[in-house]
Amino acid sequence: MPNPIPLGVFGFPAGHILSPVLHNKAAEELGLDYHYLAYEVHPDYLEEAVRGARAMGFRGLTITIPHKVAVVKFMDELSEDARLMGAVNTIIFEEDGRLIGHNTDGIGWLRFLEETTGEHPREKKCLVLGAGGAARAIAVKIAQCGAAHLEIRNRTYEKAMELAHFVEKSVPSSKVKGGGLDDLYSAADGCEIIVNTTSLGMWGNAERMATPPIPEDAIPNGCICSDAVYIPPDTEFLKAARRAGAQIVHGTGWLVYQAAAAWKMWTGVDMPTDIVMEVLHEALELRLGIEG
Ligand code: ATR
Repeated sequence: MPNPIPLGVFGFPAGHILSPVLHNKAAEELGLDYHYLAYEVHPDYLEEAVRGARAMGFRGLTITIPHKVAVVKFMDELSEDARLMGAVNTIIFEEDGRLIGHNTDGIGWLRFLEETTGEHPREKKCLVLGAGGAARAIAVKIAQCGAAHLEIRNRTYEKAMELAHFVEKSVPSSKVKGGGLDDLYSAADGCEIIVNTTSLGMWGNAERMATPPIPEDAIPNGCICSDAVYIPPDTEFLKAARRAGAQIVHGTGWLVYQAAAAWKMWTGVDMPTDIVMEVLHEALELRLGIEG
């Protein structure tokens, strides 16, 4: 019997990566012969590892921290999102040997937002907290959607300004404001969508986990609050948002939906996202129980 078709994720470190759980569950449920593994790839060997995967018959790869920007130069072709975001999180190995770089971070976030709330960033006032890799994908996607107003606030002011300029250059129709984390009240005033992409709220450090990225009384009633943090699924930000009368969009959904978009490109089949979401929650409970 031939081996399953290989898929995988390259990161550094890689021990914490949950995507094998998602993709292998999808393969099992659909009865498809794929197997997905996590590989710890040192940044110095990224090019060799990608070319090695092609030589070994991989159908696709997920690319995660810290490789998403560095891997761009090894691609033969980029999707529009990957080009605008300047980052690749999904590679397809074509049969003719070509490497196609995609980015499903923005579209995965948008699809889950739409499915959970029925809303879209078009014509909306949006605030992104943080200015790292996750912020870049989401801010570009929000700008592409035609938001009425987009503001990026970050602890390091310069990074917020850099990202604001990056988004305006990538999506020339957009107007993006940058700033620090001071006076989030004025930034959030009248906001319809707030996205946290900072690591505040994330499990692993008690103080960080207990700190919300924005004061609760700055969150407008009826606003949509989306968190990129997914460990724990119910972060301080989302708990505060719920109390403030906002709609909640969990980071777990974003994780599953960006994986689902990649899975569809590799296999041509829809990922059973409900079942995959269940298995993700089981894996998170196990992790929080054992290591928390
Ligand atoms: P990712 O790729 O997941 O976005 P990242 O690039 O490391 O991760 O970005 C982490 C984000 O969390 C950054 O915006 C970071 O702010 P700085 O640019 O100032 O470093 C933000 N962040 C991390 N710890 C934070 C803290 N204690 N308070 C506020 N923001 C924090």
